[in-house]
Amino acid sequence: MKTPPGLQELIEDGIIDEVIRPLKSGKEAAVYLVASGAVIRCAKVYKDANKRGFHKLAEYQEGRKARGSRDARAMGKRSRHGRKEQEAAWKNAEVDALYRLDAAGVRVPKPYGFFNGVLLMEVITDEHGDPAPRLNDVQATPEQAREWQKFLMSQIVRMLCAGLIHGDLSEYNVLLDANGPVIIDLPQAVDAASNNNAFAMLQRDVDNITAYCGRYAPELLETEYAYEIWKLFQTRKLRPDSELTGLFVHDETEADVDGVLLQIEEARQEAERRQRGRDEAEAAHGAE
Ligand SMILES: Nc1ncnc2c1ncn2[C@@H]1O[C@H](COP(=O)(O)OP(=O)(O)O)[C@@H](O)[C@H]1O
Ligand SMILES: [Mg+2]
Repeated sequence: MKTPPGLQELIEDGIIDEVIRPLKSGKEAAVYLVASGAVIRCAKVYKDANKRGFHKLAEYQEGRKARGSRDARAMGKRSRHGRKEQEAAWKNAEVDALYRLDAAGVRVPKPYGFFNGVLLMEVITDEHGDPAPRLNDVQATPEQAREWQKFLMSQIVRMLCAGLIHGDLSEYNVLLDANGPVIIDLPQAVDAASNNNAFAMLQRDVDNITAYCGRYAPELLETEYAYEIWKLFQTRKLRPDSELTGLFVHDETEADVDGVLLQIEEARQEAERRQRGRDEAEAAHGAE
């Protein structure tokens, strides 16, 4: 086949030998099967920012560090330099996330580097050796759905323990190999500790998976994994192998606004009393 733009340089540099065939071309990236010697890999070529809904990036990039303050300012201002920097950050984020998650024991494709805007990674295959289907492409039994839900919640926990939230997790971004679900498509992974939208993103990821698995095992729709996971995370009790229940008791006292206002009023009166005491003591002192 004619070598697609973006991959020619990798051939010239000897990083890959040939492009075998396109695998999928989505909104944001085109994925190819490529050969490096005897091994076959996936090459993900990112489309340019204009076609990707650049304006939606802000939500994800909050808290992501740019290299220098000039870069950070430029990213904020969306100048031309900013756009370029932001695109670079976007592209690198997926590679960084794959390395980090692979090291943390999350089932993701093994990354083999990022060259000239192209991510090279392991091909996830089904039991016949063909590129694996997405969760969305298969019919599940209730038992499978329960198993996948449990497994994917544990993967979300592992990701969070490694500091990351996927941010676009759904049945479209999970592949099924012979050993179960593998998570893909992470250019928008967010830093859990510094992003103000972190909980909302975690909740959306959890809800997407739950809605999919809940189609086959409806009792899953009653679970509250997002709250359970977030509470453990915030109280520093979350561990990669934390056992989850899917249950969460919402704290009623949190909604006790009157109680809080009363406490504030009592504190204010107490402060006033103390101040009066100080004033009186000073007046007495002054009169001596
Ligand atoms: N490592 C991989 N192994 C097998 N198939 C892959 C791999 N990475 C991506 N794909 C295929 O390419 C499609 C698009 O990849 P993805 O990373 O989800 O990009 P996007 O959704 O942004 O276009 C996936 O749905 C999947 O079918
Ligand atoms: Mg995708």
